[in-house]
This record gives sequence, structure tokens and C-alpha cells, in this order.
Amino acid sequence: MTEADAAFHADSLLAQMSQEEKLGQLIMVRPAFAPASQTVIADEQRAAIRAGQIGSMLDIWGADATRDAQEVAVKESRLGIPLLFAYDVLHGYETIFPAPLGEAAAFDPELWEKTARAAAVEAAAGGIALTFAPMLDVARDPRWGRIVESFGEDPWIGSRFAEAKVRGFQSADLSAADAVAATAKHLGAYGAVTAGREYASVDVSERSLREVHLPAFRAAVEAGAAAIMPAFTDLNGVPMTGNAAVLQGIVRERWGFDGVMISDFSAVSELMSHGVAGDLAEAAALALKAGVDIDMASDAYPKGLLAALERGLIAQADIDACVRRVLMLKARLGLFDDPFRRGSTPLAPAQRQAHRELSREAARASIVLLQDRDGLLPLAPATPRHLAVIGPFADAPLDMLGPWRAFGDESATVSFLAGLQAALPGWRISHARGSGAETVEPRARNDAIDLAEEADITLLCIGEAANMCGEASSRTNPGIPDCQRQFADAIFGIGKPVIVALTSGRPLIAPWVFERAGTVLATWFLGSEAGSALADILTGCHAPTGKLPVSWPANTGQIPIFYAQGATGRPANPAERLTSQYLDAAVEPLFPFGHGLGYTRFAYANLRVSPETAHPGDTITAEIDITNTGAVAGEETAFLFIRDPVASIARPVLELKATVKIRLAPGATGTARFTLSTSDLAFINDAWVPYLEPGAFEVFAGPCADRASLLKASITLRSA
Ligand code: GLC
Repeated sequence: MTEADAAFHADSLLAQMSQEEKLGQLIMVRPAFAPASQTVIADEQRAAIRAGQIGSMLDIWGADATRDAQEVAVKESRLGIPLLFAYDVLHGYETIFPAPLGEAAAFDPELWEKTARAAAVEAAAGGIALTFAPMLDVARDPRWGRIVESFGEDPWIGSRFAEAKVRGFQSADLSAADAVAATAKHLGAYGAVTAGREYASVDVSERSLREVHLPAFRAAVEAGAAAIMPAFTDLNGVPMTGNAAVLQGIVRERWGFDGVMISDFSAVSELMSHGVAGDLAEAAALALKAGVDIDMASDAYPKGLLAALERGLIAQADIDACVRRVLMLKARLGLFDDPFRRGSTPLAPAQRQAHRELSREAARASIVLLQDRDGLLPLAPATPRHLAVIGPFADAPLDMLGPWRAFGDESATVSFLAGLQAALPGWRISHARGSGAETVEPRARNDAIDLAEEADITLLCIGEAANMCGEASSRTNPGIPDCQRQFADAIFGIGKPVIVALTSGRPLIAPWVFERAGTVLATWFLGSEAGSALADILTGCHAPTGKLPVSWPANTGQIPIFYAQGATGRPANPAERLTSQYLDAAVEPLFPFGHGLGYTRFAYANLRVSPETAHPGDTITAEIDITNTGAVAGEETAFLFIRDPVASIARPVLELKATVKIRLAPGATGTARFTLSTSDLAFINDAWVPYLEPGAFEVFAGPCADRASLLKASITLRSA
């Protein structure tokens, strides 16, 4: 259906719709199933669908249930307007991929797109037409549990992640049977909640909002995202769900977004709790005028919207504009052409197998080797030994799926234990839990200690459980629970080789792990093929290539910590007390953004930039030579940062502008080539528009955001 046809269809429908039918299109509810059923819609909800009182449903799943509901809407309601089915397909539907923060460590937009595409194929086969993903909130506070859902701390990465996920979910044809509408969420600055506390107020500067928190959402809109979800939170006192200045002023008017805005769960009625609405009618009016088209699971639109109209708080045209956008989305999705297009074709076994292999590939690329002091890796499969695989996450398939695991099947998930058993057939692989995630288990502890004493080497699987992360999971101490620490100390105390695998949805603040263990990997929540992927890395079938998408704090007191900080008037200098630093800790993170080791080493040399003097519109090329100085082949992700050392607005000490991957044989030297445009040197001025300010710029390239590891060059920008 062309845009013109969609518009014609929407307008002709709108002209026929009663007020109740219009209101119905703005209401999204959860399914109510008949008793003892998960596929048959209950009579009362069937009646509401038949009356046109429901326009979309969330948390409904499977071809049978969606077909049952759709049959009622399409064949029994007066106008036959199809329902829209939506679900949180964040990192997979049945085949689960690494949780987003882990996948971000791959620094691979092609991979990010492929996993979204696979997830969309599976979700659409289950009748889903819209996912509440990608989550695009910049996250710089590991106390906040939803950091696991994010791409990390950097807005440039966020923009690349947004583009890749929108392309992957929606494909080139949103009406295709395996396309799923993407929802860029949660706009905006949700990751900056006060003290990392879930749902807390957000107070950020206009500059931080526009330079840090909005770019990924703008990239999603420019990539064609079909929907946006405002955040639960207030922004500088104005709840996002009723924030017309941002949702209308910036997102619709300045960015030209003409898609659908869907509130978060019950967020419209929560405008009363925020203290900006006295009743449901006022809440409904605020949200509708801010451009929120669909009220997810609150009473505000169902019980307050028509009252708001009667009280003159909104106009009929406001309602009609929202209804039209919803009808346009349904038309773009092809729902009017064929409401049963999604859910009609089951996934082919070959597709499912391909998705499993992709999940394993993505999981490998997400693993970050944080520390490698002991030379324990890779293990030599051909030299059988006794490997003890112990800890609460050694055999924990459900935790491997992480939060928002949709229909990930625990029984079909490869645990670390299973993966290593399969990869090391000649070895003795023993197992004991050793500890609960948050509880001491004395019997299991003793069993594990016995095994670690017997074994030649131990894989210690510790960290945080899936239910300790995600929504409503803020932690004031985002580390490893004491019960695990006591258990780990006993294992370290044995004095035999230990490899630590950290399961988590955030950088865990546990300096003791890195003091006691020489070899530590961040394994996040790796998904359906977690164990296979870890085994691939530990056995050397594949080398670790992941790098940190977030700074890894040395302690909680450093939070929020991120590389793109301002220089301040007194940059940190340990030799000078009166500089920007702490008395009791370093200012640097334990591991910087971009940190990640492999099984070889790389040396950077000879950064050169051309032209050395650029004019607006020029293309800038930066090249740097990278040498594999190790004995095995390896893949390196190199980063390019800029700094504007003197500008009318103080600029961060580093700003990421490009990444390049390069694969090198042992001893080989290659050239990483970065291409920028002069627009990459611009910043947002006080009129909130990109401003290209002539002057000198510093260009940095290297393996991570640690300034000491970067090579520097300069470029001068002239005015036209
Ligand atoms: C939740 C989350 C949001 C999700 C929605 C529907 O509360 O905030 O990310 O998409 O509700 O499940």
C-alpha cells in the first residue's frame, strides 16, 4: 500500500467512525483469555473488540491467540479495523540474543541489524506487528537496572544502534509478513534518573538532553522508526508522557516524526501521580495534546478522553489526528491488506537453526575479556584436564536469557556447563553450584570447594541473576552479593588457576574479583547459545573481540562515570590537590569505554589526517597503522575521537565519531581508515542547531577511550 493509498484509506475510515470507534483505536490493552485458555479471548473482551473499543493489544502471543482476536475485530466489528499486536521483543522472540548492553560490546551495526531481523521474523510468525524496541536511553549509571536494555554510554554508538535495529525490525518493507514496527523507547533521558533509582525524576540540562539523550532517538526517526514511546519519568519537572515541548516541539515538528506515539504502561494515568493532572480527563488531555496517540493499559483515554473533550480541554481535531496516525500505521503495516499476514506462516526449522547460529555468533562477539594476567586462555582442548565449572551461573540457563526474554525456552538454552561439556569431550568437566545468587548454600559450597581442590583449573561463574536487572531493579550496590564473594574467596584461597565469568546486565563493581582472579570475562546475559559461545572463546575456536560499551567503575562513588566528560578548569592531576579528583579514589574507571582484550596484541602507529586544513563540506580521512604483535590472528575494533580544545561552548575531552574493525594475521600491519565529514565536527549551539565553528580540532585514534592509549593528530577547520 502506497502512502497515498494509506492516507486515502485512513481518511475514508475516519469519516465513517463513531466517536467510540475513534476512541477505541487509541486504546491498547492486555489480552483477557477465557478460563483455562491462553489462546481464546474471553467473552467480555470479545464484545469490546466487536464494539470497536480496542485498537491494539500488548502481551498477546502466538499465532492462535492473535488470530482468534483478529477474527473478532475483522469479521465481527462494524468497520472491520484490524487489531495491532505488540510485544517486548528486545533481544529475541524465541531464539534469544545477548541482552542489548552485551550486544553493544560487539560494536557491529551489521550484527545488530541481523539479530533484530531474526527476532522480527520469529515475532511476526507469532502474529506480532510491533515491538517495543529498541531501547535507546543512554545509560551511564550502573545502579539503574535498565542499563542492561541499553547500548551503553555513548550517543554516537546509540545512533548507530538505533539505525541498525530499526532497519532490522522493519526491513525495507514494513508491510511485509516478517516486518515488525520498531518503537524507539523511552524518550527521553530515562537513563539519567536521580541516583540511579528506577522511575525517579530526571533533571538534565537542555544541552545534555540534546547532545547526549536525544541523538539516538533522532537517528531512529531518520531511519524510519514507526513508533516512539515516551519515558515514564518527568524531564525537568514535565512528565515525558505529557511533554508537548519535546514530543511535539522537537520530535514531531523539528524532526518531522509522523509515526505513532505509544505511552508506557499506565503512564497516562500516572500523570496524576506526577502531580500535573487532577483527574483522568486532565491526564488524557495532557497526553493527547503532547501527541501520545495510544494509551497503553491506563484508564485515562478509556474513561477520561471524552470527558476532556466535553470540558473543552481538547478538540475533536486533536482526537482525529491521533486516530489517523494509528490508522496510517496499520495501513503501512499492511494490516488492511491482510490482517492475518503475520502469524500465518510458521518458522521453518532451517530458519530456527540459522537463528541459533546467529545467536551463538552474537554471543561470542559480546564477550569481553577484561583481564588476562595468567595466560590461562585459550584452554588447549587436545590436552584433557579436569575443569571444575562452579558457581550460581555455571548451570543457569534461565539467567542466560536475561530480562525481557520473551519466549526464550530455558530448556533449549545452552548453559556454560553444557557448552563446555560439548566442547571438551575428552576432559573431566565437574560441576557444583557453590552458592546461590543471593543466598548462602553451605552444602553446595562444600561440594564446589572439593571440586576446585581436585580440579586442574576452575571456571568460576558468578555475578547477578537476570531478575536482579532490568526494569524496577535499581541497586545501590551494583556489585556481586556477599554470599558469592565469600564463596569466591574460598575458591581463590585454594591457590589453583581460576577463570571468572561474570554474568550481569551492568558493569559490576567488585574490585576484589580483579584483585584475586587473573582472568576475568564479562559475559553479560548471552542468550540461547550462551554456553556454546563461551566455550568457543575459552577453547580458542574464536578469540574474544568484545569491547566495553560502558565505563566500568572502580567504585560506586564514581557514578555517573563516562569518558565524554568536560575538561573543567582544573583537570585532574594527582600531583596537584586543587584539581578535579577524589581524596580516596582515582578518577579513572577500573576499565575504560572500549576496553577489551583478545588472544593477541595490537600496536597503533602513524596517525595521519587529511586534509590538515578543511572547509565545510569536505570529507576528512584519518588513517592509523595497526600491527598484530602477537602469535595468532586477531580482530581489533579501533576508535576515532575528536576534541575541540577551544570553542564557544566547552566541549567534552573526547567525542566518539567513528569505529573501524580490522582483522590481522600474526605480525601483519594494516591500516584502519576512518572517514568523517566536517559536520561531525559540529556541536549544538545555543539555538539548538548544529554549529560548525572554525578553529583547530584534535583527532585521536586508538583501542579505547583511555587517553594514554590514543594517538593524536590535528586538523584546522576554516570557515567557508
Ligand atoms: C514496561 C516498560 C516498557 C515496556 C512496556 C510494555 O513497563 O517500561 O519498556 O515496553 O512496559 O511491556
